[in-house]
Amino acid sequence: MRRLLIAGNWKMNCGPYDAAELLEGLIEKKSEIDENVDVLVCPPFVSIGMAVKYLYDTDIQVGAQNLHFEENGAYTGEISGSMLAESGCNYVIVGHSERRQYFGETDKTVNKRVHKALEHKLAPIVCVGESLEQRKSDKHFGLVKNQITAALHEVSEKDILDVVIAYEPIWAIGTGETASPEQAQEMHEHIRSVLTELYDEDSAEQINILYGGSMKPGNANELLGQKDVDGGLIGGASLDAESFSEIITIAEDLA
Ligand code: 13P
Repeated sequence: MRRLLIAGNWKMNCGPYDAAELLEGLIEKKSEIDENVDVLVCPPFVSIGMAVKYLYDTDIQVGAQNLHFEENGAYTGEISGSMLAESGCNYVIVGHSERRQYFGETDKTVNKRVHKALEHKLAPIVCVGESLEQRKSDKHFGLVKNQITAALHEVSEKDILDVVIAYEPIWAIGTGETASPEQAQEMHEHIRSVLTELYDEDSAEQINILYGGSMKPGNANELLGQKDVDGGLIGGASLDAESFSEIITIAEDLA
């Protein structure tokens, strides 16, 4: 019952011109692919307008990479949820490990952003995941449970159905190293059991849990083939129309 979601996180790549070029390639390739999989691109803020314009008559959706937790006001350099909604976004990535690591994002601010996203009908893609050190010291399950519990604090039973979780082990991001399909499945199953504890089994079964961390055409089939892996949050490989559409095709074949 869950549809696979293939999402591209472009990170700090592709201004409007490069975005247009990448999207042209993607639209061309995607038109040959069936439509049993949801596809999303998350460009940097300045390229969202371009993406919405290019994608308006396609079924590829547009999301942002972050949002601020206040509505508006004196927050120089920040972008609000209402601005993203007005710009045509349907999704927003929240609490990516790069934001936690480099920009002081905490579980508390992640939770505030999740609430703000939901308020503006933006589906938050909540990122969780452990460092290599945490995995080696066997803290990964507990850590991910805590991250999810904190991020979803006071999210209602109705709103939880709009939330997407992305499991992104930090040691697999941009390193070329991926979690093995077994490691991914094991963590995704754990995440679903945490969601069952926080909500109920029926809700937990409906929530999409994406895997992120060096997903590419060569490993997508195995990862996406796992029972609790409901899609991918893809960095590097989403910057190449060919690779990204290959992953979409692989997902289609599994759908
Ligand atoms: P890579 O696919 O480049 O490893 O990035 C994953 C990621 O961080 C997606 O949010």
